[in-house]
Amino acid sequence: MTDPTMRPPYAGTRYPRLATIPAFTSFIEEGWEAVTTPPALLEGTAAAASRHRDRLSDAFPGQIIVAAAGRAPTRNDDCAYLFRADSDFVWLTGCQVEGALLVMTPAASGHAATLYLPAPFRPGDAGFFADAAHGELWVGPSPGLSEWAEALDVEVRGLADLEGGLHALGGGVATGAVDADLVSRAGLTRDPELGRRLSRLRMVKDAWEIAQLREAVDRTVSGFAAVVAEVPLAVSQGLGERWLQGTFDRHARTFGNGPGYSTIVGSGAHAPVLHWVRCDGPILPDAAILLDMGVEARSLYTADVTRTVPANGAFSSPERAVHDLVERAHRAGLAQVRPGVQYLDFHFAAMEVIANGLHDWGLLPVSVDEALSPQGQHHRRYLACGIGHHLGLDVHDCSHAEYEDYMGAPLEPGVVMTVEPGLYFHANDKTVPPELRGVGIRLEDDVLVTDGGSEVLSDALPIDAAGIEAWTRKHLARS
Ligand code: GLY
Ligand code: MN
Ligand code: MN
Repeated sequence: MTDPTMRPPYAGTRYPRLATIPAFTSFIEEGWEAVTTPPALLEGTAAAASRHRDRLSDAFPGQIIVAAAGRAPTRNDDCAYLFRADSDFVWLTGCQVEGALLVMTPAASGHAATLYLPAPFRPGDAGFFADAAHGELWVGPSPGLSEWAEALDVEVRGLADLEGGLHALGGGVATGAVDADLVSRAGLTRDPELGRRLSRLRMVKDAWEIAQLREAVDRTVSGFAAVVAEVPLAVSQGLGERWLQGTFDRHARTFGNGPGYSTIVGSGAHAPVLHWVRCDGPILPDAAILLDMGVEARSLYTADVTRTVPANGAFSSPERAVHDLVERAHRAGLAQVRPGVQYLDFHFAAMEVIANGLHDWGLLPVSVDEALSPQGQHHRRYLACGIGHHLGLDVHDCSHAEYEDYMGAPLEPGVVMTVEPGLYFHANDKTVPPELRGVGIRLEDDVLVTDGGSEVLSDALPIDAAGIEAWTRKHLARS
């Protein structure tokens, strides 16, 4: 046993830099079995990405296009935040490798695609033991360039090859995730039209993407059940909103890539707080809990669903009244989702119901007409957020699209969007009667526009108050 009163051998000498020690470097080079690691890609990923590149190619004929996966921000020293690849890049490549780049060069017909990746460092490379980002000793066996080329059916080269060819690019357009240094060295232009066009193209989902969204929604629905089953424990053990947030995030990580956005768990007076992502309060045993949660699938397509559930299985009468009004607005909004209808019609339909309901409760200081007019909007005091958005690889998908292509455009089959009206009466809002203060209700569904109308992908969860109570009681009983 080492004598703690003695100094260890070589104490007081400088920390050894392994890469400078020939005895070490030659020893660690040898004695490794070769490991082949194919990329873990879902079936259909490569074909979907290829189709997406063709669509972009048609929009930018004759121009070099550069897209990037991006890099995780540093948290401290060499510790980074969790990496999540840029959505435009994933849409175009199916690849989620940090630091990867896609270069599309004009070809005889359309564009030729080359994917530039940081090659993993394997035994024999100095980086194998010295590079914490790409050395397999640090990050485990990883797919190499040839494995990626085979899986994605594109030309794949090491990032080092791009360095040499930067000037040869001679200009082109770059997505927002391409880093500024590369943009200037390669003489690229950040043409906002590229982001807008990608948003426009990503709006209409193909069959493969719709399957990914269905998967994300289905996993989210089971996540709601898992969370509700933990409510009694969260109450009895004082584990609070944190426990329910952690339950959903664990579920999302296990059955998908992770949560598609910051999970919202708002109990009681936290429910009306639109972005209650702090989730650090108690679960009140006799109040409603607003749960806004989405699983991001492994393909990175995400769901975005909200239900407000009674912690004890039964809404109070004010909660119930607010829920009924939100449900009516929700149904009115859903009824407007079909091809050819203007995107915003669902918004105006839901708002009409909300304004009428608030007027009937005596909460509007003006007439319904005046409130609904563009110069009024008094009802929005209690619903200041948007009540829907496109959904896809990003929770707020296609957000770079122009107004004319998004809010001002007619719906098309293949669009997936949320409809999410709510009412949010803050605990300190003196304009509402005491019994409504601290009540927040949102209903959020994910809706696919079909050829003949629409399909609510999240309809496994009820939207009426009685249905939600029954569903909640069933899952509370499973705990
Ligand atoms: N959870 C974000 C949203 O509903 O838009
Ligand atoms: Mn949403
Ligand atoms: Mn949401």
